[in-house]
Amino acid sequence: KLKIRNVSGILKDKLPKYIFKLLKLAGELGDELGFSVYVVGGFVRDLLMAIPNHDIDLCVEGNGIVFAHALGKRLNASITEHIKFKTAILEYTVETDSGEKILMKIDIATSRLEYYESPGALPNVEHSSIRLDLYRRDFTINAVALELNQTNFGNILDFYGAQRDIKNKIIQPIHSLSFIEDPTRIIRAILFEVRLNFKLSLQTERLINNAIQLGMIKKISGQRIFHGFQLVCEEENTLACLKRMDEFKVLQEIHPILPLTDAKEELILELEKISNAYEMLYQKSKRENWVLYLLALCLGAKYLEVSELLKRLMFSSKATHSFLSMREQCRDMKFKIKAWSEMAFSPQNNKDKNIRYKMSMLADILNPLSVNAMIFVIATEKDADIRKAILYYITKAREEKLSITGKSLIKMGMSPGVEIKTVLKQVLDAKIDGLIKDKQEELNLAESLVKNFLEEKSKNNKN
Ligand code: CTP
Repeated sequence: KLKIRNVSGILKDKLPKYIFKLLKLAGELGDELGFSVYVVGGFVRDLLMAIPNHDIDLCVEGNGIVFAHALGKRLNASITEHIKFKTAILEYTVETDSGEKILMKIDIATSRLEYYESPGALPNVEHSSIRLDLYRRDFTINAVALELNQTNFGNILDFYGAQRDIKNKIIQPIHSLSFIEDPTRIIRAILFEVRLNFKLSLQTERLINNAIQLGMIKKISGQRIFHGFQLVCEEENTLACLKRMDEFKVLQEIHPILPLTDAKEELILELEKISNAYEMLYQKSKRENWVLYLLALCLGAKYLEVSELLKRLMFSSKATHSFLSMREQCRDMKFKIKAWSEMAFSPQNNKDKNIRYKMSMLADILNPLSVNAMIFVIATEKDADIRKAILYYITKAREEKLSITGKSLIKMGMSPGVEIKTVLKQVLDAKIDGLIKDKQEELNLAESLVKNFLEEKSKNNKN
């Protein structure tokens, strides 16, 4: 018989109050409706490890949709339902214990009781439907439920050794066909191993190797492989995940251009360093991590090979074009920047290597690049002076603004039109190049430029 541990004390003491209240409410509603309600999966795993987690997956023995509507009403949540799978998603804004307003998302699923209820099926074992629901999951550590109904509130239902494996820091599937049934679990196993700092059991390694030898990676759809790759790229330690994927030949199986090399590893470390620094400066940027990692893994690959890979990953033609042209753009950039640096850093032009010399020209070169492309260009640049110049562009030159506006130029006698833009750009370039500093100097320069412009114009008019 299953030994049941109760953690209601821990729930009360350790969970944020707004989450504890939600769990209580879900249990009460379950009682009212006559459904058993559980929290399942990652939330319970993390609870047992004392890791905060706000992603709540509920599993309802009964009707998840009916339950979702009842809970949604109480929480004032929006509800998205999938009638066919009897699942629903609730979304609502909640005030955390610190008073911050955040968006909460609750996934609600229905555990399938029908199978056991049909006459002549298996005897009605206690918790049979939640047990079956958990059995369908990936790893023992995730196949654990927390009961919410009032009489059993806080009971941990652990049929497959989740607590044992969490204690021993072991990742293993619930049954030996797990990776054959769903080969994306191979990537998930690695992801959890690295994230939680656990070990795959020896048997698990064998099962993974076996599934890979059977060609299971090749059977995963492009979307699912790409989704797995994206998850890996969102991890704290992506490189460790990639190394492990490489050890198991997962990268090779996705596409032969992907396996790691020393150069790729070095590049990834460099990309991460620059990305992190960028993030510190501009937290606002919301970039997709996978772009840089995929660019790095494609290092040295030919155009056709990369397009073959993207086809495997089922990229849309738009996404394919955008990724391939980004690679080309980064490559072209190298030549343009090299040409710029030869001019900017040449001894006769610039004896003291003042990087502001003709910074405006570099700005024009770099301007079309996305942030990711820019990070990639810096990471692949060996020349320290060029790196310094690009960093200067990103942190300073790009932010440079003028105090004067088109209106100032109109006051000086220019008529509204595109010429105003040209003059303003010239003034801005001078500022970027450090030739002028304050508003007065901007005005002085603008005035002389406007004067030249007007003289030119009246000369042309006379001719
Ligand atoms: N699952 C699975 N097989 C997969 C993906 C998911 O069995 N290929 C199961 C896992 O047991 C997991 C649950 O579905 O607990 C929900 O998946 P997901 O939300 O992706 O994972 P979490 O365990 O919640 O992990 P995370 O902390 O990364 O959200």
